[in-house]
Amino acid sequence: MLNSLARLEYRGYDSCGIAMASGGLKVYKDKVRVEALAKAVPPLEGTTGIGHTRWATHGEPSQVNAHPHCNCSGDIAVVHNGVIRNYHSLKEQLIAEGHSFVSETDTEVIPHLIEKYYHGNLEEAVEAALLEVEGSYAIVVLAADEPKLVVARKDSPVVIGLGDRENFIASDVPAILDYTNRVIYLDDGDIGIVTKDSIRVRRDGTEVAKQEHQVSWSIEDAQKGGYEHFMLKEIHEQPKVIRDTLGEYIALAEPIANFAALSSTPLEGMLLLACGTSYHAALVGKYIIEELARIPVRVELASEFNYCQQPSPRTGVVAITQSGETADTLTAMKKLKGAGRKVVVINNVVGSSASRLADQTVYVRAGPEISVAATKSFTAQLMALYWLALSYSRVDISRLDSLIMDLRQLPSKVHQILDNEDAIFECAKYLSRYNNAFFIGRGINFPVALEGALKLKEVSYIHAEGYAAGELKHGPFALLGVDTPVIAITAQDNTYEAMLTNIKEVKARKSPLIALAEEGNETIGELADLVISVPKIDAIFSPVVNTVALQLLAYYTAKQRGCPIDTPRNLAKSVTVE
Ligand code: AGP
Repeated sequence: MLNSLARLEYRGYDSCGIAMASGGLKVYKDKVRVEALAKAVPPLEGTTGIGHTRWATHGEPSQVNAHPHCNCSGDIAVVHNGVIRNYHSLKEQLIAEGHSFVSETDTEVIPHLIEKYYHGNLEEAVEAALLEVEGSYAIVVLAADEPKLVVARKDSPVVIGLGDRENFIASDVPAILDYTNRVIYLDDGDIGIVTKDSIRVRRDGTEVAKQEHQVSWSIEDAQKGGYEHFMLKEIHEQPKVIRDTLGEYIALAEPIANFAALSSTPLEGMLLLACGTSYHAALVGKYIIEELARIPVRVELASEFNYCQQPSPRTGVVAITQSGETADTLTAMKKLKGAGRKVVVINNVVGSSASRLADQTVYVRAGPEISVAATKSFTAQLMALYWLALSYSRVDISRLDSLIMDLRQLPSKVHQILDNEDAIFECAKYLSRYNNAFFIGRGINFPVALEGALKLKEVSYIHAEGYAAGELKHGPFALLGVDTPVIAITAQDNTYEAMLTNIKEVKARKSPLIALAEEGNETIGELADLVISVPKIDAIFSPVVNTVALQLLAYYTAKQRGCPIDTPRNLAKSVTVE
């Protein structure tokens, strides 16, 4: 089990643990690396056990919040990936029924629910318990006196590995490839009962047959889920990231950033602070919040905030950081707190320094982001900013309804972009032979131009600049010509006509032009050398689909140029120095 956990370390984690049926249940877990856990675990007899590397969602990384979690009598242990949405109400009910809890996690409700329904048959108790659970889960359950494992899946991946007089369950193939490449994939609603000699799968109380597959990947390939790079894998995870992040907010009864509770109301304005890609998300956030909530928004580079004026007391302050460890952002947060301000942080890592420093944390659910180039975390941050704006929205109810409807359709719109990868690959082949490029956009897509340029710079080493389209004529025009391609980002909003003019100005100066435009737009098709079509969508959401297309453009351009995509030179995933 320890070896399998080590094979999952690449996914990023903050704590780990195991439980073994070894004369009763033996549980070892802590906020340590797998290697340290391996040193702490004494040699144990036993042939049935469960293990886990944790990526915290509820409750900071700690020994008590690490998995496995147990029931009151400690004879049922559970490991879990996913989020139990209704854990609050379940926990209150179970405490009222006499159960005692030790951790802050959502997961701990599961072993207690199973204990409640346990009458000698583990899988029936698990089935009954899961009828009460709302959310996403991959769980594996071990009971002290039953030589089996019960596994269940809903929205989180699970694979069962078939061995010779042994069987394995894992959240991802790399964990078991040392022992077998024969696997069964569970589907949502499946419950598996696994012993060393048998695997049975049930759904809605009846046995179902599952197809066996042979995995041909190497362990390294498998860690990337069959994708060649983590960046491409993470780009493809975005529909799920959008669903997971929005799903979290939709389940909440109150605004995700409760400025009222932070006593800076009525809000006179908002200040958004961040670095790099998170800063570009903040810039998009400005357009979203000003349009929907009609609250003026100031956006500052965290590294520059040292030299800026403090905001007024009635300003809602929001820092945005994927890692939560970016020194510039932490310094700016400390400066604000030092001046008596309350700070909200939009963050992707539970227990990060930023989430500890902040007065309130809005978590996004991008999951571990391995590739240095931020992709899915950007989209997740936009979901938080959309929801923040909608929580304070001043738009009429019919507009609000259509906006929420569009938000719910975003995962499928992003899927359309991912399905259009080949066309983007062709544009990348075209772009890869240049060493300079400009990205231009207007309004809410100006920050998208900045983000597109940053992605291309980071992974392909092409010197790219993002520009407000209207600014090109104030200088950069001097650089245009056959050797300097321009990527123009259009949207069907009040910027469209002006963008058309800018595109014509660029073409007049002989620059190769790649345009992003809504599918079926013939006008742009006639003007541009190449077009990347994006699905029709309310313009306020166009930064999501446009950015995913530009992430793919950067990825395939870098691939064409043979760049080390996941680990670009001179860059770190989280910049912990000022
Ligand atoms: C983006 O691809 C880069 N990795 C970098 O610009 C990053 O966005 C920046 O360092 C901020 O990181 P944070 O969101 O973790 O604070």
